[in-house]
Amino acid sequence: MNRFPAYIALENRPVLIIGGGPSALAKARLMTAAQASLTVIAEKIDSETRAALAGVARLIERAPVVGDIEASVLVFIADGRDSQIERWVEIAQMAGALVNVVDRPEFCDFITPSIIDRGQVTVAITTNGAAPVLGRKVRADIEALLPQNVGSLAEFADRYRDAVKAKFSEHDRRLFWEHFFDGPVAAQVLAGDEVRAHEAMVALINRPREKEKTGVVHIVGAGPGDPDLLTVKALRLLQHADVILYDRLVSDEILSLARRDAERFYVGKAKANHAVPQDEIEARLVAFARDGKMVVRLKGGDPFIFGRGGEELETVRAAGISVFTTPGITAAAGCAASANMALTHRGYSQAVTFVTGHAKDEGEPDLDWAALATLKSTLVVYMGVSKASSIANRLIGHGRARSTPVAVIEKGTCPDQKIIKGSLDELGQLIEAGSVDGPALLVIGEVAALADGETLLSIAQQERLVA
Ligand SMILES: C[S@@+](CC[C@H](N)C(=O)[O-])C[C@H]1O[C@@H](n2cnc3c(N)ncnc32)[C@H](O)[C@@H]1O
Repeated sequence: MNRFPAYIALENRPVLIIGGGPSALAKARLMTAAQASLTVIAEKIDSETRAALAGVARLIERAPVVGDIEASVLVFIADGRDSQIERWVEIAQMAGALVNVVDRPEFCDFITPSIIDRGQVTVAITTNGAAPVLGRKVRADIEALLPQNVGSLAEFADRYRDAVKAKFSEHDRRLFWEHFFDGPVAAQVLAGDEVRAHEAMVALINRPREKEKTGVVHIVGAGPGDPDLLTVKALRLLQHADVILYDRLVSDEILSLARRDAERFYVGKAKANHAVPQDEIEARLVAFARDGKMVVRLKGGDPFIFGRGGEELETVRAAGISVFTTPGITAAAGCAASANMALTHRGYSQAVTFVTGHAKDEGEPDLDWAALATLKSTLVVYMGVSKASSIANRLIGHGRARSTPVAVIEKGTCPDQKIIKGSLDELGQLIEAGSVDGPALLVIGEVAALADGETLLSIAQQERLVA
């Protein structure tokens, strides 16, 4: 580190910018955001700079004089010939000002970083001029990790600083705040619900000490498989969780994004093989939260689509524990995108229906076949692979055309995804020919004709080529 990062209070303090073009305007925008008392001087100030700074900066159209430069805390030089620049830098430095010359690091006392400005929370990033584009990329990465309302959270905490100080010893105060920022009240503030957060905060500060430990449960969708399809919020929660209970369809790549020291528990269910029964999963969520933990219940796809997320939410809430839900990209949306097939498409389908092909005790799914068969739209069947032939027969039996296009998408969005397409009457064969045995969706309807994918013919041709 050859420059020390520090934040300078500039409110109402004199800052000078020499220059009247786009570089000067860029610096002026930073300085007005910092509420500096800004003067812009140049022999020519362009019309865009003039319009943008009208009313927020003093604009002087002439060459700067020694007195202008001497009076400033910071001086930016965004314009000028080399001989002038050297002179201005010398005058400013003699007067004790810090100088920045745009694109001339050799003259700079300070540089302006890439900034993330969320009110009370500001982050500054610099590569010391070595790679400004990299600096902007780092900023984008950090920006994505910071909750939109993180500045409000800092302000919220600031309002209670004195109250917490009065109530707790120094050691307990630190624990209180650590617990607070991962807890339900902070989650409420981040969700924009400050009214309820204030009530909860007062209760939190005043509650008896033995009840100190109450955690929070986040029910989080992990998306269909590709880690890049995780939401920004899901990623953030994973990086803060103390405990993660995850399902079978959550990949190792996604788990590897979690906080390194988080406790992880596999509670997945394969068909007819419930590793941990549902009520046991719910009991664990409650127990971990009662132990003061920030718990993430991580589920494939979206937690509220064939994910039993609703049941878990009800149980946790009934236990008096704060619970929040973060949606995920459901398999149908992820698979459709991977197959380049819109689920609704003008001229093909104006609606989409999601059903489950799973049935209790391995029986037949209890669906309204007559209604599904007459739909002139897209039908997506989750968990339908083992019942694919009988689903096709039922739909055909109730009047859906045998030639209706279908697509079977296995492990959609993952590197080993498979897409096989054909017609409804060959659905069983498609699954057999494609040896589909992983998680897969059946998409039935005209849009399936648009899917990128293999057909029975192309599979047979490949086999002949290989044989
Ligand atoms: C218990 S459901 C969970 C659905 C999940 N909550 C969602 O919104 O995607 C599991 C079924 O989702 C489907 N599924 C999940 N991920 C999939 C993927 N990557 N590709 C194809 N189907 C998938 C399969 O039908 C699988 O049997």
